[in-house]
Amino acid sequence: MIKSLIQSMAVCPDMNKVYPKIDYGKGVYVYDQNGKKYLDASSGSSAVSNIGHGRTEIADVIHQQVSKISVLPTHAFNSDVVESYLDRLVSFAPAGFSKAWTVMSGTEAVESAVKLALQFHQLRGDFNRYKVISRWNTYHGNSVFMLDVGGMKIRRELYKQWLNNFPHISPAYNYRRPEELNEDQFVQSLLAEFETTIIEEGAESIAAFVAEPVIASAMGAVPPPANYFAGISRICKKYGILFITDEILTGFGRTGKNFGMDNYGVVPDIIAAGKGMSGGYFPLSAVIASAYVTQPFIDTKTPFLGGYTFACNPVGCAVGNKVMDILEREDVIGNAKRMGALFLEKLKALYEFEIVGDVRGEGLLCGVEIVQNQSTKEPFPVSMGISKMLGEKAIQKGVVLYPGRGSVDGVLGDHIQISPPLVINEEQLDEIVDVLKECLKEVMSEIKKTTLNYESIES
Ligand SMILES: Cc1ncc(COP(=O)(O)O)c(C=O)c1O
Repeated sequence: MIKSLIQSMAVCPDMNKVYPKIDYGKGVYVYDQNGKKYLDASSGSSAVSNIGHGRTEIADVIHQQVSKISVLPTHAFNSDVVESYLDRLVSFAPAGFSKAWTVMSGTEAVESAVKLALQFHQLRGDFNRYKVISRWNTYHGNSVFMLDVGGMKIRRELYKQWLNNFPHISPAYNYRRPEELNEDQFVQSLLAEFETTIIEEGAESIAAFVAEPVIASAMGAVPPPANYFAGISRICKKYGILFITDEILTGFGRTGKNFGMDNYGVVPDIIAAGKGMSGGYFPLSAVIASAYVTQPFIDTKTPFLGGYTFACNPVGCAVGNKVMDILEREDVIGNAKRMGALFLEKLKALYEFEIVGDVRGEGLLCGVEIVQNQSTKEPFPVSMGISKMLGEKAIQKGVVLYPGRGSVDGVLGDHIQISPPLVINEEQLDEIVDVLKECLKEVMSEIKKTTLNYESIES
């Protein structure tokens, strides 16, 4: 009895559901206890296993590092493995970055980035800057504070009495831009909204703006329209607001560049990274800060007040270092760029299905938005659970996708994120597309049956 209770409680995230058990993974595939093979087009939950599953050389690194030293008295010591990895992180970032440190989760990294921004302003005597602006329908972590900063209505709802309601602006969602605007006018309207929000809130009260370069799981891989981030960065500078990029999901090659923002020629002040930086072999994330941000800490000889027990853990750093060796040795980021471009073209074939409204992506972070009608873009009712249905069908057919909803207004809107390991090849991309086609066909015929039944009951 106790054992079965523990087993059912251990299941995450739905304690009422029994999940099939995965036994092991190799490359882009994971295998369940019955030997069934699944192509992990989600890369863990989600976009984590960038270098693929089952890398024994990382197991060896963990064994070696744990055998030497697994945790340091970091209040008094450094170590080569930590120092060299942090230096490597700084070199991996754009020019002008000067310091990095690791934490364990994406939530911790983005929250640390925000805290760093607050302390930066305080050290410069700017004590009134505390607000953080972000965008609706975006996710920046699951602590109560990061839910407040983020804009995912579904996740915020339960905690709304705890939330302070920092300002939020519209996401840059080109697919659903107002019909009367062209892309450039749309960008200008978004930038005007940003600037108006800053002025209304009081520019001197805003510490930072946080954004993902490509809005990933919350909206299903939505890249920004051209020149959007250049405009955002210009406005941030104008009002003394620090620009933090949440690269938890988009960093470390996911979009075909070191960091997602590199695609748009914009350099932020602080980068938060996670997920793919360890490939899922160790809980690892990082804050990387520009020299502009670190300077007041150096000038005033003040430490950043954001420590965690597992910050700068040597095992995490050893794993991260090996992952970077693999990224370089196998040109994983180049593969993500090449395969990503190919994949997006292949996914466009899905427009043959009238419920496919939008196919989009950057590198190997791709998304498909499902609609009732391609020309009206009308979403399905939430009760139909279309993206969930697609995700479940794909799993039955041996492909793991990352379904989500809320892209339209935080509640309505079905999308599928497809973010396979970055080591995927063309044949494996075809496997995903073939399964998606089968699933879409089945879902469409089920929708037709439901509609017919509904119409016959009505008449
Ligand atoms: C963009 C983004 N930021 C932050 C997080 C939070 O990361 P973690 O779940 O590791 O705390 C996630 C996780 O999915 C994410 O996608």
